[in-house]
Amino acid sequence: MDAQAKTLPEKEEVRIRPFWYSDYWIFPKLITIVTTLDKHGRVNAGAFSHIMQYDVMHKKPRILLGGRNTAHTFINMRDTGEFVINCPKYDTLEDMMETGRFYPDGANELDYTGYTMIPSRKVKPPSIAECPQIMECTVDKFYELDRTQAHVIGNIEAIVMDKGLAALPRAERLPAMNLPVGLGDEKRKDYFHTSTRDVVMHVLGDPPDVYVPPVETEEAEETAEVDAMEWDAQALEMLDGVPKALQKMVRGQVEGALLDRGEKAVTGALFKGLAREFGLSEELLDRYRTDADTTA
Ligand SMILES: Cc1cc2nc3c(=O)[nH]c(=O)nc-3n(C[C@H](O)[C@H](O)[C@H](O)COP(=O)(O)O)c2cc1C
Repeated sequence: MDAQAKTLPEKEEVRIRPFWYSDYWIFPKLITIVTTLDKHGRVNAGAFSHIMQYDVMHKKPRILLGGRNTAHTFINMRDTGEFVINCPKYDTLEDMMETGRFYPDGANELDYTGYTMIPSRKVKPPSIAECPQIMECTVDKFYELDRTQAHVIGNIEAIVMDKGLAALPRAERLPAMNLPVGLGDEKRKDYFHTSTRDVVMHVLGDPPDVYVPPVETEEAEETAEVDAMEWDAQALEMLDGVPKALQKMVRGQVEGALLDRGEKAVTGALFKGLAREFGLSEELLDRYRTDADTTA
């Protein structure tokens, strides 16, 4: 695009300080209430938004949670190995904020809200009935980052939703859930949110045909694609059934995994075993099929 053809905004560099993400940087985040039990079995609830999927293309997906390692939530996760991530609705934000206050050790923040505790299915900490989307987790790894911060990687043991939500197409599910989107705070006191009620949808189509001139350097030769392994007919047929957009990645991952195991060739049986191991089911593959797969 011609940078001269339009007026571009002027830029300025800003200071990077602790809490940089709440100073200037706008960082929309999922808002959650994490429920735990302490080692005496007492319920605790805390507001947390430093939360992100840890891995996705895996049979056993995990979640990443970051926070202050002296928060009761983090102490309880370390002590008991279980937690529940409850996603509140936008219209209960006052109650969510209540769980963000610094209540004393042993207090159950939910007692000071309108939320209702219900039993979870796979773990001991309770879930919150008014939350339309709930994730029950066990601690996989607990990382102390420094004196004050910790990261927890959680195994997702169950995802529980209000009945009927999962069957809705996303376009209807988003406004029906009406989840708050956290927009950060000012001076650790004033918290800003928007919601998933108003959403727009964009179709991600196949990229246009573009010509990318080949790079002629030694490095490019070294990293040039080579078919490292032989594929038997059955394995090739299975690869052909993988959505076009994923074929290159699946080929690389299958070869990498089998090379690591000392295999010399990709057979249908080995491919099948890996697919089972990594949860590469027909149902999952269907989700990646595009027009290019159906018109081929
Ligand atoms: C909207 C919101 C999001 C928050 N997100 C986090 C977070 O991601 N990590 C964190 O350490 N504290 C976060 N806090 C602060 C904790 O909620 C607060 O420290 C609370 O006292 C923790 O409760 P606990 O000590 O019972 O675990 C957040 C607070 C609010 C209001």
